[in-house]
Amino acid sequence: MKEQGQLEAQRQFDMMEQCRKRILKLCERAGRPLTYHISTFGCQMNFKDSEKLAGILEQLGYKETDSEQADFVLLNTCTVRENANLKVYGHLGMLKSYKKKNPHMMIALCGCMMQEELVVAKLRKSYRFVDIIFGTHNVYKLAELILTRLETEQMVVDLWEDAREIVEDLPAVRKYSFKAGVNIMFGCNNFCSYCIVPYVRGRERSREPEDIIREINQLVSDGVVEVMLLGQNVNSYGKTLEQPVSFAELLQRIEQIEGLQRIRFMTSHPKDLSEDLIEVMRNSKKICRHMHLPVQSGSTRLLEQMNRRYTKEQYLELVDKLKAAVPDISLTTDIIVGFPGETEEDFQETIDVVRRVEYDSAYTFIYSRRTGTPAAVMEDQVPEEVVKDRFQRLLEVVAECSAKRTGRLEGEIAEVLVEGISEQDSSMVTGRLSNNLLVHFPGTEELIGQLVLVRLEEARGFYYIGARIQ
Ligand code: SAH
Ligand code: SF4
Ligand code: F3S
Repeated sequence: MKEQGQLEAQRQFDMMEQCRKRILKLCERAGRPLTYHISTFGCQMNFKDSEKLAGILEQLGYKETDSEQADFVLLNTCTVRENANLKVYGHLGMLKSYKKKNPHMMIALCGCMMQEELVVAKLRKSYRFVDIIFGTHNVYKLAELILTRLETEQMVVDLWEDAREIVEDLPAVRKYSFKAGVNIMFGCNNFCSYCIVPYVRGRERSREPEDIIREINQLVSDGVVEVMLLGQNVNSYGKTLEQPVSFAELLQRIEQIEGLQRIRFMTSHPKDLSEDLIEVMRNSKKICRHMHLPVQSGSTRLLEQMNRRYTKEQYLELVDKLKAAVPDISLTTDIIVGFPGETEEDFQETIDVVRRVEYDSAYTFIYSRRTGTPAAVMEDQVPEEVVKDRFQRLLEVVAECSAKRTGRLEGEIAEVLVEGISEQDSSMVTGRLSNNLLVHFPGTEELIGQLVLVRLEEARGFYYIGARIQ
């Protein structure tokens, strides 16, 4: 497998070289560099893929532009909920009008939505102006696909049902110089009954620990101090490797990397969160004091229907263990309201969990029916007005809990990683605490990417105003 991956990487570098020559000619003909724009929807996985796609486009000689009126426009799509999906069709309408003005423009679509047959059939039929369509398993092939498009002058559709090999070491453009996302695994095997991700991202595959460590070492030598380890269920990392390695073991190895200061990860599935991981977090100097631990629902009955494989009690017990081991930990979560068959009692169980856990924040979603998932054909879909009413009530409780939680560090001194100049006030910089909360304090550009000590003077809802300690 590994050798196949290396061969494929080499093949793609050859493709990039051939494609670069073609693009160079097009630039000469146009008398200017060709531009690209990528719009990314969805989660961190997609954002990470977009960095890889941007890396390839830059290698080909394209220059990034903020405008969607570019020579190469790519939409990296998400389909986790219906509204993510609808946004893409909206965008396409606009792109069609741009293409009328610039007939050489190329429009490409990729990402999770493209892994759905019905979507691709619709695009083939009614969106003929799209040039390239590919999915989530062949992101690394972009140069080859552009080359095919230039040679055949026809719509290129390249979709695979599942991934073949993991291709390492292709170029990437990173948004921040000091922090980076690192894939540790791809796909998902959990099949929560509402969720489309396993169908569009394929089966779970972990990267070899050596490849992950090598990538992080390289990032650190490029100036990165914080990494975010990415996977749909990082707690089951390593189970599918020839020589299995647990997530807790991987973290311990990453902790050893000199120069790396902070480690984050997402997402943790409660069913696979091990005692070892809690122990590693307790003893770690680098793992951030934050865990995103999606609960989805507080009702054991619904959790079973959702195929989450834990009960309300098990979840709460896990939270207690985490809080006992890492007393300053901040917890965040995802919650779905209106799953088929949800009763007022089920909903009250969810509210009860929110109050008991006291999340720092929660992402709340209205259940969205995804074709092909088991929940889509369940009876008792909850009426829209009922869902909306519950959703509002949930938001209020979540807001109450975060207000209670987020002020707790007022007056303390804490380490902040400075991320940029504040958007509201250019005399201030904005950074993040280990627990992921934002802090604004007086400072200048030179501080970006540095870890500094800040006194948290005033809590204001989701952020603090602070002052640097010399
Ligand atoms: N792998 C992660 C979640 C990825 S999707 C995990 O298991 O935690 C991010 C979130 O979208 C999920 O946690 C869930 O709350 C929400 N979600 C997924 N499918 C959904 C659907 N059909 N309707 C509404 N929300 C959904
Ligand atoms: Fe979806 Fe569940 Fe997999 Fe998360 S763990 S991606 S919610 S199937
Ligand atoms: Fe969306 Fe795909 Fe992520 S469906 S949430 S972009 S894995």
